[in-house]
Amino acid sequence: ALERTLSIIKPDATRRNLTGKINAKFEDAGLRIIAQKRIHLSPAQAGKFYEVHKDRPFYGELVEFMASEPVVVQVLEGENAIQKNRDVMGATNPANADAGTIRKDFALSVGENSVHGSDAPETAAEEIAFFFSGLELVG
Ligand code: CMP
Repeated sequence: ALERTLSIIKPDATRRNLTGKINAKFEDAGLRIIAQKRIHLSPAQAGKFYEVHKDRPFYGELVEFMASEPVVVQVLEGENAIQKNRDVMGATNPANADAGTIRKDFALSVGENSVHGSDAPETAAEEIAFFFSGLELVG
């Protein structure tokens, strides 16, 4: 099915000027970038976005990192976009990521892992609505 998913290019990647190289991997995989903006999250905004992880031991570190420098938030559209994006990203921990994936090529650690992607249709819809209005999605 034609799907949309929320992607975030994280601070470790924007800092190292990797936005274009990461976008090339999405586009080469057939994902279309139908919305995109560069923002600097406040700690409160980052905390709300990752609220589902609030009881995890890494939550504080995750929120601090995501608010540390700008991120690029984007909506990717394509056939099976949610799983396709997860395949292009590779495993959460770059040590376990397959060759050619974004995290294998660019991530620094499990925390500084260069990209976020929605994990299911329901979370994709929620995460897209967290950052974008309908008018900003230009498919
Ligand atoms: P993401 O897909 O953005 O969703 C939650 C994030 O938590 C995950 O990517 C990782 O970057 C981060 N994370 C997961 N496990 C750890 C960990 N052990 N230490 C630090 N961050 C983690």
